[in-house]
Amino acid sequence: MENIINSANLGIDSLVGNPKFYIETYGCQMNVSDSEVVVSILQRNGFQLTNSSKEADLILINTCSIRDNAEQRIRGRLNVFKQFKKKKPSLLVGVIGCMAERLKEKFLEEEKSVDLIAGPDSYRDLPKLVKSAGYGFQASNVLLSFEETYADISPVRFEENKVSAFISIMRGCNNMCAYCVVPYTRGSERSRDPESILNETREIFNSGFSEVTLLGQNVNSYSWKPDGGNQINFTKLIERVAKISPLLRVRFATSHPKDISDDLLHTIALYPNICKSIHLPVQSGSSRILKLMNRKYDREGYLERIEAIKKTIPECSISTDIITGFCTETEEDHKETLSLMNFVNYDFAYMFKYSERPGTYAERHLKDDIQEEIKGRRLTEIINLQNKLSLQSKQMDVGKTFEVLVEGTSKKSKDELFGRTTQNKVVVFPKGELKPGDYLNAEITGFTSATLKGKVV
Ligand code: SAH
Ligand code: SF4
Ligand code: F3S
Repeated sequence: MENIINSANLGIDSLVGNPKFYIETYGCQMNVSDSEVVVSILQRNGFQLTNSSKEADLILINTCSIRDNAEQRIRGRLNVFKQFKKKKPSLLVGVIGCMAERLKEKFLEEEKSVDLIAGPDSYRDLPKLVKSAGYGFQASNVLLSFEETYADISPVRFEENKVSAFISIMRGCNNMCAYCVVPYTRGSERSRDPESILNETREIFNSGFSEVTLLGQNVNSYSWKPDGGNQINFTKLIERVAKISPLLRVRFATSHPKDISDDLLHTIALYPNICKSIHLPVQSGSSRILKLMNRKYDREGYLERIEAIKKTIPECSISTDIITGFCTETEEDHKETLSLMNFVNYDFAYMFKYSERPGTYAERHLKDDIQEEIKGRRLTEIINLQNKLSLQSKQMDVGKTFEVLVEGTSKKSKDELFGRTTQNKVVVFPKGELKPGDYLNAEITGFTSATLKGKVV
């Protein structure tokens, strides 16, 4: 590691006063939520947020390690910022989040243009790390914590329209799915004090937001036991959040099939403002592959949960994540994934080729033995099927009326707005007198490959 102080690197000069920082975020919603915490911490310490990477004294990249291509993209961005540094030697570049955590100090050795790294549990330390980096030291803090939840930090929301906000209610993951890097980059599962969650939600609602998404890698296993009190699980928590106001929509992500209880389903059904949309990653339709993945359920167990959702909340949309080409996956296993997709009739899916991640169980004990070509072909089949299912799902909505929360102006036309149904489907409709944050009833008149088209009724 380079610890040489040189004048070219004396960024500290530009860091006196109110240095400007720019932040770029990759990866999942947790990272978006974390970036909001980072902005809050830095602003409290005299830094000023800018939307322009060119005028920044400090550039932060909040990174993702979930698949190799996610990391490659970030390396590409770093090369761009390396060029910035040639023009402005005092510029500091920091890499934070999952990739910093996964690679630790090795990353600083590999990428000499990076001045500091901070893992997901070290953001309180950022002002100090920036200061050290300003003196020319490559600075790092990648310690994971058993307690950190940033409960006392009010995140600075990026959402321009002030409609929808993320609230992180737990951190880390204990599930140890064989393919997944998250338990290593985000550490053990820990839940946040429910009072701080409720306070933050009330504040957000009072400041004009109409929707919150409760976030965690494994959100339904939320658990908090107050001193001397009774344990609060996810069902109890979401009920309390929903009771803040009937005008506040409540969403959550992500659910693990093992934790989605009947109790929770009944609560979702009971409260009109808890959104009727469940993201339930299946990963594979083959019980043999699920066992290899250490997912803790089999095909039958997953389908039983799907039946329970459909029975308890008939209008609920269901979406999923699928990994194709996991170690030893046969054509038979692949067909089971396709048949499960057909059976569930997903409204939406995120679909990925398996990407081996260093340090995971699969990397250490299994062989990444499915050829790239086969992974590609299977992924295409899965995507084609999902496109068909998504279109069918939209077709079924035509003629129905949905309550829509307006989020913003449509990308295609200034005269149109877009919003979401409780099922999390995007609807585009004529603007009229409506504005972001309003609710309306929209009758679905048609659809494109991406959105539903509606008219106000
Ligand atoms: N905690 C959530 C999300 C984890 S990451 C959950 O358990 O569902 C989001 C998705 O990325 C996963 O659901 C999985 O489908 C995919 N994923 C994770 N690791 C992967 C890997 N090594 N290769 C390909 N896809 C992966
Ligand atoms: Fe990764 Fe599994 Fe945890 Fe999701 S539940 S973050 S896939 S280990
Ligand atoms: Fe990526 Fe980390 Fe999220 S690896 S998916 S940013 S938890």
